[in-house]
Amino acid sequence: MLHNDDQRYILNLYQRMPITIVRGEGSYLIDDQGQRYLDMFAGIAVNALGHRHPAIITAMEKQVQSFLHLSNYFVTEPAVNLAKHLIEYSCAHQVFFSNSGTEAIEASLKLVRKWGKNLNANKTDVVALLQGFHGRTSGGLALTGKPEYKTQFSPLVPGIKHCVKNDIQALKKIVNENTCAIYLEMIQGEGGVHELDYEYVQEIVKLAKLYNILIVDDEIQTGIMRTGKLFAYEYYDIKPDIITIAKAIGGGLPLGAMLVSEALSNVLQKGEHGTTFGGNPMACALGDAQLMELVKPEFIESLNTHALYLKNELLRLKKQFPHLILDVRGKGFMIGVDVGPHAQKYKDEFFKHNILINTTSQTVIRILPPLNISKSEIKAFVTAFESISKSLI
Ligand SMILES: Cc1ncc(COP(=O)(O)O)c(C=O)c1O
Repeated sequence: MLHNDDQRYILNLYQRMPITIVRGEGSYLIDDQGQRYLDMFAGIAVNALGHRHPAIITAMEKQVQSFLHLSNYFVTEPAVNLAKHLIEYSCAHQVFFSNSGTEAIEASLKLVRKWGKNLNANKTDVVALLQGFHGRTSGGLALTGKPEYKTQFSPLVPGIKHCVKNDIQALKKIVNENTCAIYLEMIQGEGGVHELDYEYVQEIVKLAKLYNILIVDDEIQTGIMRTGKLFAYEYYDIKPDIITIAKAIGGGLPLGAMLVSEALSNVLQKGEHGTTFGGNPMACALGDAQLMELVKPEFIESLNTHALYLKNELLRLKKQFPHLILDVRGKGFMIGVDVGPHAQKYKDEFFKHNILINTTSQTVIRILPPLNISKSEIKAFVTAFESISKSLI
């Protein structure tokens, strides 16, 4: 009934799971038949602490006593606290809050173009990577590389060129003094969990210095401890000029942010950008409570130990099933397993084992579990992976 009404009343844009979830509990989702499912994609990297974590519930109960929404005409404690902590734990200087990832990207596009124009009227060109994904609004789509996401919706925001990743010569051919920004995901999520090479990123930094180009690091998927560090740029020893985040930053509620360096903090002036909901007090309160859990050293240590265990187990399965498992990629709890043409089959079989997984780029199982998933839950996932692989050979 619910599924029929969903089809009838909501635009049919998503491939829905054939179940109705009534409750979440840690790493599990429970449906209306009482079945428990291990949640291996955590709301597409949103539920960093799983479902109904006590720290988040406590923050929610506290905030509900004060107010839910005031608008950005008011200063609110949750937004200031979260901003302060994001700055304390990153290389950035100030924060702009949005509601989603794609809106953080839109804000960044406005900023980089205004910054460029202040230097030279033609310095408005932007470069992004072909396999990248940056959102579904006109700016986000224009930055996104994959044609299948965008061609029907043109014309999109102009002035954006693309090149293949990890090829510095390709990049050198399209940047010049009129380029104002280069957009990167340190690990491309939607693109199939592909990491940028360390040396490539170092070369980009040199190129950016040479032509005075801003580096915009899209950490909407990789950020907030997903890769085992708070931000994936930390693996590359760089300081991006702008960092965009979303997904996990709202502790389960819609929230995004653009983090900017000190040099960029005065580019946008009062009234030049804004939002009604961005920085919503409840979302910021939950996000801050979650962030404070995630940055605890013992949490980070346990996350990385468990993530390494999962990766090693997947590499073991790759050796055992070389014809099925073609590649295992990624960092921390952002792992892609390339299973060629078998991705949908794996997804269906995992579902029969009461495990929910997500696939991307047709061939890749994208594993994005809650960051506090336990070793025994990982073991259950690996055991199912092994048994499904045996049944597929
Ligand atoms: C790297 C990246 N950028 C941007 C977005 C868009 O974020 P949102 O869906 O919150 O608009 C996503 C979403 O998957 C993403 O992974």
